[in-house]
Amino acid sequence: MKVRMALTKGRLEKQFIEYFQSLSYDINPLVNKGRKLLVSTEQIEFIFAKGADVTTYVEHGIADLGIVGEDILLEFQPDVYNLMALPFGKCRLALAGQQGKEQIGRKRKIATKYPAITRDFFRKKGESVDIFKLDGSVELAPILGLADAIVDIVETGNTLRENGLIVIEEMQPISARCIANRSSLKLKKNLLSPIIDSMRLKEGVI
Ligand code: PRP
Repeated sequence: MKVRMALTKGRLEKQFIEYFQSLSYDINPLVNKGRKLLVSTEQIEFIFAKGADVTTYVEHGIADLGIVGEDILLEFQPDVYNLMALPFGKCRLALAGQQGKEQIGRKRKIATKYPAITRDFFRKKGESVDIFKLDGSVELAPILGLADAIVDIVETGNTLRENGLIVIEEMQPISARCIANRSSLKLKKNLLSPIIDSMRLKEGVI
């Protein structure tokens, strides 16, 4: 029996592979995987999926472990065990918009990939807003007039800068997280413990 681990494709995948190498795991099959979505090393079978789908695979026990952004956990609140923060995928959630174009006196329109996070953020402020759900390139919305502002991930800030937007309000820091299926933690304890412990040891949480 192997451990199955779901990785978020894209930026997090690359950073995870470097991190995993630093834990002395063999990462060669991952580096040379091409377009394959399932890759096995001696101990682990990796699957590659979009962040929200990583949580679905872990929640339903198809994958034992998952590497996913905290933004996805906050938005979808999957029923998984949130094991630990990892030292990569660091960015922040922020409210951003065009400088000098703050709307006063009418209900603001907010575009975002994160409607649940956005709803919660404005509910806590006691402000009622209209939320527009987009799937990407959210920065376009205030430029084109779909929305007054956006709630999105800011990493380097380049996307905001290059599109003439500024952070209006910082919301919260985000990092990659290691999650686990609740049953796998018990049923596959012997297989999962060495992997989890090596990450915990490196992060000083053991
Ligand atoms: C994310 C995010 C921002 C950008 C922030 O988008 O939604 O657009 O990265 O990064 P930066 O601060 O370093 O510029 P992503 O690249 O994942 O693509 P998407 O817009 O299609 O979601």
